[in-house]
Amino acid sequence: MHIELAKDIISLRNADMGYPDRRVLTEVNFRMSEAEFCYLVGHTGSGKTSLLKTLYGALPLLDGDATVCDYDLKTIKENEIPMLRRKIGMVFQDFNLFEDWTAHRNLDFVLKATDWTDADKRRHRVEECLNRVRLSDKSEIEVYKLSGGQKQKLAIARAILNHSKLIIADEPTGNLDVKSTDEILYLLRDISQEYNAGILLATHDQRVLKKFTARVYRCEHEGIVEEM
Ligand SMILES: Nc1ncnc2c1ncn2[C@@H]1O[C@H](COP(=O)(O)OP(=O)(O)O)[C@@H](O)[C@H]1O
Ligand SMILES: [Mg+2]
Repeated sequence: MHIELAKDIISLRNADMGYPDRRVLTEVNFRMSEAEFCYLVGHTGSGKTSLLKTLYGALPLLDGDATVCDYDLKTIKENEIPMLRRKIGMVFQDFNLFEDWTAHRNLDFVLKATDWTDADKRRHRVEECLNRVRLSDKSEIEVYKLSGGQKQKLAIARAILNHSKLIIADEPTGNLDVKSTDEILYLLRDISQEYNAGILLATHDQRVLKKFTARVYRCEHEGIVEEM
């Protein structure tokens, strides 16, 4: 008999993560299935960013097994890491946008870098994604003129450009006021549902967890535990 199981987009088995001279997390077991929304919480320095960096190939897996979007992190080659990153949408606390460029150019740049050669298709896709995050009217505005909340919406538009099935958000509301924080959290939740995208959202802010229910994993004592 063939049983269809929900597919994992992230699977860590006895994974050790951190830096060659310092293991930040050891023996981590964690899995996330497609379209799931999960929180990763824990105090500053508990290892949230280290875990996320391991997932997108910015830190090597030190021990154990890990797969992310069908890539095996134990055997992945250096030159395959850009391909892994294309599959993941990333959102950061400090936005990582080109401040002097317009909103449109920030997105078009990513499409160009990911082999969208047709200018009309690029323009259409950029407009679609700006429209989804309700920034259509800011298309030709330079990023430095946008508010923090608008910048993060633009970063989310960038994360969905290539139809990623996994969005990793590292303290996405860390620089935002309460109102923008709410907007960004609801936007991420809606996008997860609309596009069947898994979202792993790291935060040290307990208020963020109270917005809606989702699985919560806590980094502590060099490991992670699921909160019930
Ligand atoms: N480049 C580095 N080399 C060694 N240790 C580091 C480095 N960067 C961060 N760390 C340490 O790794 C631990 C976990 O940090 P981090 O993953 O950033 O935690 P969090 O995101 O939860 O605040 C901290 O103790 C931090 O000091
Ligand atoms: Mg961090």
